[in-house]
Amino acid sequence: MARVFSGIQPSGELHIGNYLGAVQNWVQLQSQHDCIFSVVDLHAITQAYDVATLAPRTVEMAVGLLAAGLDPERCIVFVQSHVPEHTELSWLLNTVTPLGELERQTQFKDKAQRQESVPAGLLNYPVLQAADVLLYLAALVPVGEDQLQHLELMREIARRWNSRFGNGFTFPEPQPLLSTTKRVLGLDGQAKMSKSLGNTISLFDSPETIWQKLKPAATDPARVTRKDPGNPDLCNIFTIHQGFSPPATQEQVAHNCRTAGWGCLDCKRVLADNMIAALTPIRERAQELRARPQRVTETLRAGAAKAEALARRTMTEVRRRMGFLDPREA
Ligand code: TYM
Repeated sequence: MARVFSGIQPSGELHIGNYLGAVQNWVQLQSQHDCIFSVVDLHAITQAYDVATLAPRTVEMAVGLLAAGLDPERCIVFVQSHVPEHTELSWLLNTVTPLGELERQTQFKDKAQRQESVPAGLLNYPVLQAADVLLYLAALVPVGEDQLQHLELMREIARRWNSRFGNGFTFPEPQPLLSTTKRVLGLDGQAKMSKSLGNTISLFDSPETIWQKLKPAATDPARVTRKDPGNPDLCNIFTIHQGFSPPATQEQVAHNCRTAGWGCLDCKRVLADNMIAALTPIRERAQELRARPQRVTETLRAGAAKAEALARRTMTEVRRRMGFLDPREA
């Protein structure tokens, strides 16, 4: 069974972008692969953040993942900062990471541009991400399209470490796994759906809110009047249909869009119904989990213990290959 690793930041909101781009895929993968999923709180502190809400956001993200269908009997779910080997390996990998590659990362450039003083942690963010995956010798990384550049760099870091130190122990070069909805735009149709841009539909929005948000959402910009035929391939609403509607409905939607048989509101109503049907049980499970916070923290504690055991094994090999004095021999 191939080892799978992926992570999600405790942004405070599981939305249909990160759900369709990644988490829905995680739920499917857990029955066929050896899966490890992490709430990556150490990544979340690379930008200005609210200290008081970091821990509750971390728990809330774990609640979301479990409610969405991650099953701790079939995969490991844990909080990144609970396994200190992530930061240790990250430091070691920093020493083989080319600075130029870090400076070229689009996500770094975007985020750095938006602030006056850029912390080094933001630049080194992808090194920590590489450590996350390499620590568990994972072969596959289910992510959305926005993470592909980080994965390319991760493979470069693995190659460099392997060629310098990999004598009898090497890191696999992890490959991305994309879903069909690898890039969900925000409801404004401008940028990717993201909590920080306020253009999301949350997995926990009520049926009324889902409909209120969908109604004004951007569609194919060329479709100005009801009679204009549209192009589903240029419509974010159609992308979301691909995540929530069965194939026959998708075909019907695409046909009625191209022939202007339906208006955009007709198409959105069908989508709203399918979304509400899919999300209602997730929302209800999340409510149950929130009512039993101890069960969630216990799941995370058990997950961290399992992850830690695997991480420790890798670090013993890594430390040895890099020539450190074994503390037991000192
Ligand atoms: P994050 O927390 O921004 O997003 C979590 C996952 O959701 C995907 N995603 C999307 N996919 C499609 N459309 C969208 N609008 C959308 N928004 C988010 C992301 O691609 C991601 O797969 N750096 C990572 C977290 C991370 C990680 C890792 C991932 C840390 N270590 C190791 C994989 C492996 C991030 O910020 O994801």
